[in-house]
Amino acid sequence: MINVSKIKKGIVLDHISQGQGYKIFSQLKLDEIEDVVVLLRNIPSNKMGKKDLIKIETDIPLDLTVLGLIDPYITINIIENGERVDKIKLKLPQRVTGILKCKNPRCITQYEKVRDIDFILADPKKRTYRCEYCDSHTSL
Ligand code: CTP
Ligand code: ZN
Repeated sequence: MINVSKIKKGIVLDHISQGQGYKIFSQLKLDEIEDVVVLLRNIPSNKMGKKDLIKIETDIPLDLTVLGLIDPYITINIIENGERVDKIKLKLPQRVTGILKCKNPRCITQYEKVRDIDFILADPKKRTYRCEYCDSHTSL
């Protein structure tokens, strides 16, 4: 397997579901970063069969709600001085504000300007969220 060196400082996003790595790369706008960024796809994993992984050799702010919505199984490792100093397990967010759009064509949010819409987790298995205005279920 290709050997990618450890990083000195930054963030390693591990256990990304296979195929989601590129989506996360785009969502975090990692193409705009000038420091070293590595996207690994389809690496063998004991637990997951195959997984994706991203290494970012710099500090950037991470929106954990957005990341959790895209892929709740990610592990975020914070690296300083070549050592992992923190490990964050994501989870599916209970509430999402201003990220999802309601897909119900009759929902008031389709034709009237409303503030950021709140969605509440409805079904964790299907990863659907309930619109606060019309109660219909939507997913990412
Ligand atoms: N890593 C890195 N640079 C470092 C330290 C770790 O790139 N200086 C990467 C490792 O290559 C690995 C991930 O961060 O992909 C997590 O590394 P580690 O802390 O060794 O934890 P693991 O035991 O591999 O993973 P886990 O505890 O999450 O099962
Ligand atoms: Zn709605």
